[in-house]
Amino acid sequence: MCGITGCVGREQTTDDLLAGLRNLEYRGYDSAGLAVQNGEGVAVFKRSGEVSNLCERVRGTHLTGAAGIGHTRWSTHGPPTDANAHPHTDCQNQIAVVHNGIIENHHELRTELRERGHDIESDTDTEVVPHLVAEFLPEATSTEDAFRSAIARLDGSYAIAMLVEGEDAIYAARDGSPLVLGIDEGAHFLASDVPAFLEFTDRVIYLEDGDVAKLTTDEIEITDVDGNSVERSVQTVDWVPEDAKKGEYDHFMHKEIHEQPTALRQAIRGRVDPDTGEVTLEDFPEGSFESIDTVQFVACGTSYHAGLYAAEVLTERGMRTTVHRASEFVVNPPPADDGTLVVGITQSGETADTLAALDDAIERGIRTLAVTNVVGSTAARTCDDALFIRAGPEIGVAATKTFSSQIATLLCLIRALVRDTMDSADHDAELFRALHALPNKVEHVLETSRAQQVAHRYQTSEAHFFIGRHTAQAVALEAALKLKEISYEHAEGFPAGELKHGPLALVTPETPIFAIATGRNDEKLRSNVEEARARKAPVVAVAAADSPVSTVADDHLTIPSTHPDLAGVLANVQLQLLSYQVASLLDRPIDKPRNLAKSVTVE
Ligand code: F6R
Repeated sequence: MCGITGCVGREQTTDDLLAGLRNLEYRGYDSAGLAVQNGEGVAVFKRSGEVSNLCERVRGTHLTGAAGIGHTRWSTHGPPTDANAHPHTDCQNQIAVVHNGIIENHHELRTELRERGHDIESDTDTEVVPHLVAEFLPEATSTEDAFRSAIARLDGSYAIAMLVEGEDAIYAARDGSPLVLGIDEGAHFLASDVPAFLEFTDRVIYLEDGDVAKLTTDEIEITDVDGNSVERSVQTVDWVPEDAKKGEYDHFMHKEIHEQPTALRQAIRGRVDPDTGEVTLEDFPEGSFESIDTVQFVACGTSYHAGLYAAEVLTERGMRTTVHRASEFVVNPPPADDGTLVVGITQSGETADTLAALDDAIERGIRTLAVTNVVGSTAARTCDDALFIRAGPEIGVAATKTFSSQIATLLCLIRALVRDTMDSADHDAELFRALHALPNKVEHVLETSRAQQVAHRYQTSEAHFFIGRHTAQAVALEAALKLKEISYEHAEGFPAGELKHGPLALVTPETPIFAIATGRNDEKLRSNVEEARARKAPVVAVAAADSPVSTVADDHLTIPSTHPDLAGVLANVQLQLLSYQVASLLDRPIDKPRNLAKSVTVE
């Protein structure tokens, strides 16, 4: 949510900033801008709309300079106009600032600065920052000093990067919004997320809350807000530049759907023994969870659906398990004690609602575990433990491969929890052998799916309803979310038994019902399907060929047979393809759905 880039020490600063912004566009695409130290001052260019509009604006300007910052915006304060686009500058246009997050005391600062003669032009909370720095600069011993004084006045969450006229340096600060530095020979980078500079370097430093940094060509200095020096380790990310490119695909979403076999193999690599079905989780040896008797999953959106899925499996194995939308967890925190494990599921590790829920648990002394895709993310660093889903970078705004990888990883976590807390001799070998075989079955779905034909048939429907039981109810919710988010068509997901308690009133011949069968409770699901068929709704079975649900369907998205706890993953792949195909037929901007952005860093 808002992407920041910066680089110092490169020859093609403007090109590199634009490339970084294109790589971060999944974080926001309402407006974009950049500022470059061009030898004569700080040159600022910005435009409403996508990064391509900014490229047009910059084309032919021959901007040069050793240092620059850039921004792609997802609007929080003020509409997506040129004026509200970042960077924002002070009255003299000597200080340029880009920001991700929310400055909560901006009204108070704005009034104070106006009283002191500052002319603040935009509606954004960000614009107070360059004016504050300008206010401190005349009395400060250095630019760092003025920057730190300004940062100390801010309440809220921020990742900030600043450029000041005449200095080949970038100043940066982080509190509550992500910021990562990249280290290359003779150049340094800065960004909200690693894909921005992955083509140049894989050596990174994750800034932590309260860090203030100065980047020059030769050096990175990190301090706290009082100026005390801070040490941060350099890490190497195991992503490759191709991960952040579309390659032969038209959209990242389509590419990432097809990456699921690989992502799943990575998720279970070294964790699941294909012969015995035994699970070994690095960092969690036997006994790691012996004090746990309750698990609370917290997450948002697709990750919340992965939590619902996992909760079905864990509850069935006898553990007290609840699932919470992170934004509600903080409003009304569920009771917890020493036996509780709060598991935050978050692909990005930066979702503000999930981080707030985890912080709430941490403050109450509850044990926390992050299940995340991003090493070095805030969730990974703030929780007691982290378990990585190893999906590789996900760029498409709609989460796809990370859902499958979350489920594979959560199943391994469930195995470790059951191992440490239950007296059962059964180690679920059948499930984990099936998990080992799952990537090949996903491949089969990808090769044989009829999603395009089904999409063609139902794309003009009034609404699309998805139903399922047990783990498939989570898939029903996820399928509906995916379809509405990228196609803008009306879609709802329900536990199948709930259809007759109200939603059936909406069912007509114009509302296809997608019935997701796992091989468990299929007869009951078939009864629910019959109820819809009696109202003349067309039925699409997302089921194995031999499922009773398949015999009463008008259309089929067939899945290979597997363990019932895994069938939902295969069904979900079919339904991801369906959403993709519907959105494609309707010519939607699939990787950048309207009003949305990946990594939602505001509450
Ligand atoms: C939907 C989607 C969102 C995210 C949600 C949580 O396709 O991507 O619903 O799942 O914003 O994001 P993470 O997992 O990064 O916490």
